[in-house]
Amino acid sequence: MSPIQLRRRIVEAAIAASLAGGLVFGLPSPRDVSAQAESSPAAKRAQELAWDDAAPGPKQPVPFSHALHAGQFQIDCLYCHSGTDRSAVAGVPSVETCMGCHTQFGQDLEGIQILKQYWDAQEPIPWEQIHRSPEHVQFKHNRHVAAEVPCERCHGPVGEMDKLSLTSDTIWWPWLLPSKKLEMGWCVNCHRENQASQDCLTCHY
Ligand code: HEC
Ligand code: HEC
Ligand code: HEC
Ligand code: HEC
Ligand code: HEC
Repeated sequence: MSPIQLRRRIVEAAIAASLAGGLVFGLPSPRDVSAQAESSPAAKRAQELAWDDAAPGPKQPVPFSHALHAGQFQIDCLYCHSGTDRSAVAGVPSVETCMGCHTQFGQDLEGIQILKQYWDAQEPIPWEQIHRSPEHVQFKHNRHVAAEVPCERCHGPVGEMDKLSLTSDTIWWPWLLPSKKLEMGWCVNCHRENQASQDCLTCHY
């Protein structure tokens, strides 16, 4: 596939998804697309790095790289995590969303061959969830997106990461008590700084 065809394919897929979801958001504007029928060296490298055992984070069932998709190709976070602005959960994209692009290219990549096996079996990919709060806590993505808290503020530089992990973000609250990401102090500290609610029932059922 020529670079122009590839670009057109990505834009079409993005438009189809935005119509399906009733959303309008920034279309991916892939720069530096050099993929032909054979996948680019960058894609091959990204899939290796996504499965790099030395990097922190769980090994996912498919070697999917955020640095490539969200970074290099600038595919909008909401294109795949379309729940974030509408509901409490962000959600992960369906296999169908992936196949919107990958029936067209990438067949020579190991990661796409694994992806196709899930597609053929009509099974969801068992992604391992990295960020998770306990049952007694309620977190709402949509409220944070509405308040314009960037994804990266809580999840780290996702667009630069081939393999995702819980990035460290230890803050000292209150007065020299360390509080790690996803712990209560981490939430409450930011709520205090932003005049957001600190009422127990805001976060607890
Ligand atoms: C909007 C289009 C688009 C969507 C949607 C998409 N991809 Fe890709 N994907 C690409 C492009 C472009 C490449 C790079 C191709 C190249 O450079 O040769 C790629 C490369 C890859 C690779 C190899 C490099 C890497 O990232 O490890 C894998 C594996 C992959 N995609 C998996 C997925 C999975 C899984 C999904 C769904 C969660 C998905 N893709 C959704 C466009 C897309
Ligand atoms: C092409 C689809 C695609 C795009 C674009 C994308 N993601 Fe993802 N995202 C995924 C998939 C698939 C997973 C599950 C696999 C993994 O963890 O890498 C995931 C997982 C995540 C997770 C980890 C969730 C957990 O398990 O706790 C975070 C955080 C995340 N994405 C944030 C982002 C942000 C921020 C952006 C934009 C900068 C973004 N994503 C863009 C497909 C995508
Ligand atoms: C204020 C901090 C914060 C912001 C901003 C934020 N997240 Fe999250 N994210 C979390 C927390 C906390 C969890 C764990 C939620 C749970 O277990 O209920 C999470 C979980 C996730 C997950 C795991 C799956 C799921 O459905 O919960 C994904 C994917 C994700 N976030 C993507 C994003 C994306 C994309 C954005 C930006 C549009 C974003 N997040 C913005 C804190 C945040
Ligand atoms: C980086 C800053 C930041 C972090 C970290 C953060 N929040 Fe928030 N949160 C906000 C802001 C800003 C708002 C919006 C307040 C508003 O709408 O007026 C908000 C709103 C909320 C709301 C909706 C409040 C309402 O009035 O309904 C809930 C629930 C919530 N956060 C839970 C959490 C939980 C649970 C965590 C930790 C897992 C967390 N937040 C971490 C900044 C943050
Ligand atoms: C901004 C969100 C937020 C607010 C406000 C909040 N909490 Fe929490 N709380 C959390 C999160 C997230 C956890 C789970 C992570 C942890 O254990 O640190 C938690 C955990 C807890 C736990 C369990 C600790 C444990 O060891 O399992 C208790 C008890 C608790 N909170 C009580 C309260 C009380 C009482 C208030 C009001 C004074 C309150 N929380 C206000 C977010 C919040």
